[in-house]
Amino acid sequence: MKAMATIAELNRRFEIPGLARIDEGNGGLPKVVVTTAEAAGEIYLPGAHVTSWKPSGREEVLFVSAKSRWEDGVAIRGGVPICFPWFGSKQDDPKAPAHGFARTRAWDLQSVEKDGDSVRVTMILESDEKTKKWWPADFRSEYRVIFGRELRMELTMKNLGAEAVRFEEALHTYFRIGDIEKARVQGLDGIKYTDKTDARCEKMQQGDVLITAETDREYLDTPHAVELIDPVMGRKIGIANQNSRTTVVWNPWVKKAAAMSDFGDEEWRQMICVETTNVSQLAVDVGAGCKHQMRAKISIENS
Ligand code: BG6
Repeated sequence: MKAMATIAELNRRFEIPGLARIDEGNGGLPKVVVTTAEAAGEIYLPGAHVTSWKPSGREEVLFVSAKSRWEDGVAIRGGVPICFPWFGSKQDDPKAPAHGFARTRAWDLQSVEKDGDSVRVTMILESDEKTKKWWPADFRSEYRVIFGRELRMELTMKNLGAEAVRFEEALHTYFRIGDIEKARVQGLDGIKYTDKTDARCEKMQQGDVLITAETDREYLDTPHAVELIDPVMGRKIGIANQNSRTTVVWNPWVKKAAAMSDFGDEEWRQMICVETTNVSQLAVDVGAGCKHQMRAKISIENS
């Protein structure tokens, strides 16, 4: 009842009839649902979490697990979780939530606007006592998602404090694919990576990235764009990044999938994460009063 009242209120402020409205999503959680001539998409307010993008005439591009838990304060398994202000476990505090607090906090819906044939959704997360419990910085993060023929995601962090801060960030995109054993990631040939499945050894990528076992890699100093080739779904997904110096590639494979309670045992076959990130030694430093913006643009064509 409370959620419905909130949704009615949000619609009074933000609905664009025929293009965007706020609905009750899975677990009763509020989401913005966008339907334009170019694409359909969804973003949940908890975590500012994009869960769907479907360009017109195409199949869904993002993977969301059928076993995802849909509860306030719990990360959705799939779509595009935002990892911030750390990635993975927090180095100086193993009890801190994995991948930071941004993906499990309620973000404030700031605006929903028509942008040509696309719809732009803007959400805000600001520091408060709860974020300071984990991380002392004063900050304001703004996340803009533009749903259209391309999916554009722009994460801006403004340091409101009097001192420089360092943080990690990720747009942890889960892509839906036909068959992991036939997919490949192009554009990382000759790039160094840290292999998280092998004691963080540094290795060099040779050729395309093929997934034949559990894969968890941080590619360092990555190029502006990579491509995910999916011959089974007959499509090529372009991932063009700005101000992102690392790219994480992750697939849990059999054992890890079975160990994850919010992930189906067989779902590893139909997903891969190719993540737009700044992590580990390439974390971001932002001076007092300064801003940093990381962007990802996802596009799709036939392969
Ligand atoms: C990836 C990490 O990005 O996310 C992996 O590189 C991690 O190490 C995976 O296992 C999933 O993380 P989580 O916290 O969503 O289970």
